[in-house]
Amino acid sequence: MNSSNNVERHPKTVNSNSSTFSLTVNGEHHPLTLDNRTTLLDALREHLQLTGSKKGCDHGQCGACTVLVNGERINACLSLAVMHEGDDIATIEGVGEVDHLDPMQQAFVAHDAFQCGYCTPGQICSAKAVLDEIQAGLPSHVTNDLNAPIEISDAEIRERMSGNLCRCGAYANILKAINQVAEGRS
Ligand code: FES
Ligand code: FES
Repeated sequence: MNSSNNVERHPKTVNSNSSTFSLTVNGEHHPLTLDNRTTLLDALREHLQLTGSKKGCDHGQCGACTVLVNGERINACLSLAVMHEGDDIATIEGVGEVDHLDPMQQAFVAHDAFQCGYCTPGQICSAKAVLDEIQAGLPSHVTNDLNAPIEISDAEIRERMSGNLCRCGAYANILKAINQVAEGRS
């Protein structure tokens, strides 16, 4: 990255507490002036009205707030919005449309992989990233052979999805849904 890009990406300090910057969410550019302490989750939900990402714990413990930043999943409650100037952020609102669901969304519906649905946006964002991580060869704690292509197994999926809690206990069907998408990809 050259220095001019760095300058463009640098948020402008409005006062000691606030900055002006922009977020690109689901392909749309959003200029914002926010308190520097605003989390990405609060920026999405409270300032951009993208309420698909949920606030479960606000402490990085439940995964309900999972979004994709430059294709990688993060807990939006643990990240400051001002850090994401220039990043490509995808929320559940950008994953599919009502008339054109993403395969992961279709699989969740087909397998009844939710009850109240509160955790579902985070589960789906996380699940999509999990399959991308496996495809990219990123090992997890339960990967046996670090020198071979990673096999998609229930253990791999369970381990990688362990940061996404479901109070309704829909785990069995979530696992089936992710396996279905994994099979469709292979
Ligand atoms: S709300 Fe972010 S991990 Fe729970
Ligand atoms: S479906 Fe209710 S919390 Fe997961």
